[in-house]
Amino acid sequence: MEGLAIFIIVLLLFFVWLCLTEFSYLPKCIHRTIYDVFASGYEKKWSSSSYQTHKANNILLESIREKVGNRPDAVVLDLACGTGRISKMIMVQPWFCGQIHAIDQSVKMLEYLQQTITTWDSVRQSRISIEIGSIEKNEFPSSDVVALMEAGEFIPSLQTVIHSIRNSLRPDGILMMTRPPSFLGIFFFGRNQTRGKLHSMLLSNGFVEVEEFAWRWRYRIVIARFSLLQPPGLTRQF
Ligand SMILES: C[S@@+](CC[C@H](N)C(=O)[O-])C[C@H]1O[C@@H](n2cnc3c(N)ncnc32)[C@H](O)[C@@H]1O
Repeated sequence: MEGLAIFIIVLLLFFVWLCLTEFSYLPKCIHRTIYDVFASGYEKKWSSSSYQTHKANNILLESIREKVGNRPDAVVLDLACGTGRISKMIMVQPWFCGQIHAIDQSVKMLEYLQQTITTWDSVRQSRISIEIGSIEKNEFPSSDVVALMEAGEFIPSLQTVIHSIRNSLRPDGILMMTRPPSFLGIFFFGRNQTRGKLHSMLLSNGFVEVEEFAWRWRYRIVIARFSLLQPPGLTRQF
């Protein structure tokens, strides 16, 4: 009887861990299917006012505006874009006149983005492209801004993805990503999600001025500027 109780507790803890890590330690096809199944729930969550009006959105948008505002040749890469929360937020800004390339593995997630795109005028529609696929591939289009939001911790080979991002970023380009706070980061075994490890990985890949600020309870936002010219250096915390 006692043995059974322990078994059930362990099973429950395992399930909690699976949920916390969004089933990302399971085989890829299962992980992808989970996102397909829960796509409508995610779309609802991301459309909620607490996401839409969060003050961190302004910090993100300000960094993007500073970098690519009013530049028709600007390219933003939205990696693991989900239903396109970030792409949509950028695309409606009056100062943004560049291109967005959004990639996700989940067809259902992308269907929601596609639905929104069809409500835009044809000029705006022509400025966004969607790709179904893994961001663990090796090459991305050349870009000025890369967003990797709420996804880095679910990727087994983040180091490879960061390396591909650095190869795609134009000099002085920016990467904006999230990482779980350290008390959650420790559950992502082997994925370099603690502050120190993630920052070292970024610095060793040629990023400079790595900044961090609080976002939702599950995440901190990291903004890192890429420089081909300067040696790795400064890291700041807010
Ligand atoms: C929690 S959602 C975040 C979506 C979006 N970035 C946002 O912040 O609104 C995580 C997304 O990562 C995607 N994803 C996870 N691993 C991926 C991979 N290897 N390649 C492409 N997309 C991936 C999932 O399909 C899912 O849409």
